[in-house]
Amino acid sequence: MTEPCSDAFVFFGASGDLAFKKIFPALYAMTRRGHLDMPVIGVANSPLTVEQFRARARDSLNQHGGKLEEAVVGQLLERLRYVRGDYTDAATYDTIKRELQGACRPTHYLAIPPSLFGIVVDGLGRSRCADGARLVVEKPFGRDLQSARELNRTLHGVFDEKAIFRIDHYLGKESVQNLFMFRFANTFLEPIWNAHYIESVQITMAESFGVEGRGKFYEEAGAIRDVIQNHMMQVVGFLAMEPPVGTRAEAIRDEQVKVFRAIRPLSPESLVRGQFVGYRDEPGVASDSTVETYAAVRLYVDSWRWDGVPFFIRAGKCMPMSTTEVLVSLKRPPLRRMGPEETNHLRFRLSPDVTIALGARIKKTGEHMVSEPTELKVVHQADGEEMDAYERLLGDAMEGDPTLFSRQDGVEAAWAIVDPILGNATPVHDYDPGTWGPPDAARLTADVGGWHVPPT
Ligand code: BG6
Repeated sequence: MTEPCSDAFVFFGASGDLAFKKIFPALYAMTRRGHLDMPVIGVANSPLTVEQFRARARDSLNQHGGKLEEAVVGQLLERLRYVRGDYTDAATYDTIKRELQGACRPTHYLAIPPSLFGIVVDGLGRSRCADGARLVVEKPFGRDLQSARELNRTLHGVFDEKAIFRIDHYLGKESVQNLFMFRFANTFLEPIWNAHYIESVQITMAESFGVEGRGKFYEEAGAIRDVIQNHMMQVVGFLAMEPPVGTRAEAIRDEQVKVFRAIRPLSPESLVRGQFVGYRDEPGVASDSTVETYAAVRLYVDSWRWDGVPFFIRAGKCMPMSTTEVLVSLKRPPLRRMGPEETNHLRFRLSPDVTIALGARIKKTGEHMVSEPTELKVVHQADGEEMDAYERLLGDAMEGDPTLFSRQDGVEAAWAIVDPILGNATPVHDYDPGTWGPPDAARLTADVGGWHVPPT
């Protein structure tokens, strides 16, 4: 059954960084495709007139909107309204209600710090702005299992679970959805996609830059909370899930949650934390900070399919390159001579480009019966028409399609996995910017031939 589309879009945090970098460009792209035929109301505490707000939107598009069509920019700017107000003040919500002009299914998007989620949700409830509405919530969703549960209770005080859309922008990425498609749309894969054939799975999320002025935010997060509990777990979910009974949202989300529940909670022995040298000099960072900018873990999915197969995740700032890549290593063939040094693999590059590669061995030309490695590769050529994750996710939320959003039980199950390793569960090791993190991480993958280095 298709859900009715929203008839207004309200975003809190309208003068913030996320709005500037991601939301205005997403709204522009939606307008260009004819997917945003509704009033758009920005809410923030900054003293801006609507003209100044529109000028800020234009700046954002100039910097982050790509190639612009003037007529589309004009259409979007005309649609924008601005409500200046304190989130704790009931009058703010009365103004929003007035600006909604009778819309009966608005989407409210909280692009604000999590400490304000409860206050705004409460204000929306009291002012009746929440009636018939949907709520989109930015990450981080809680900072551990307990706070995530509390936050869920707060949101459920005003919104039904069906009306809540928790953003994890990795789910909105074409390349991440492709993992799901590649697995379930290709018959040849299923017979080998299990512990009988797969030796290990590695996911590397490397970023060549540091915290880019977000030191204050990062001090509260660290790599485990920032990207492992959410983005990397979603990738594990698509790689490890059982085939869903259909493509309906709940069928897919049920299988994601089943995987999270099957993952053994992580122990400190399965974790290595690192901090790049220079992090403590960043603005907003404590001079004795022990927050990790790198984390590597070894985890197990305790299911029939994955019994004994180690999954590795490493994520870090100030790495030698920026890329996210998955390597699925297959077991070696029984006749050792055929492939002594290297096994077969499947390699999925999720960013910056989208690549699927099958690592195989072929005969090395020459007199001897020896093999050499090769890769059969598909590289997706971007044509500029791809949807950015935010465009896709905001559009889906406005249409009431929850497939690509985290469900309450999924968020809580993912927190349960990392809860035992949060904080100072293990010491943090220094590493030099531009390296692959602390050398100690090598022990996690020692029995599977070491960490996979994504090709440049
Ligand atoms: C965000 C994190 O959620 O994801 C950032 O807060 C990280 O620290 C970013 O850099 C990575 O997203 P992407 O889409 O650039 O891979």
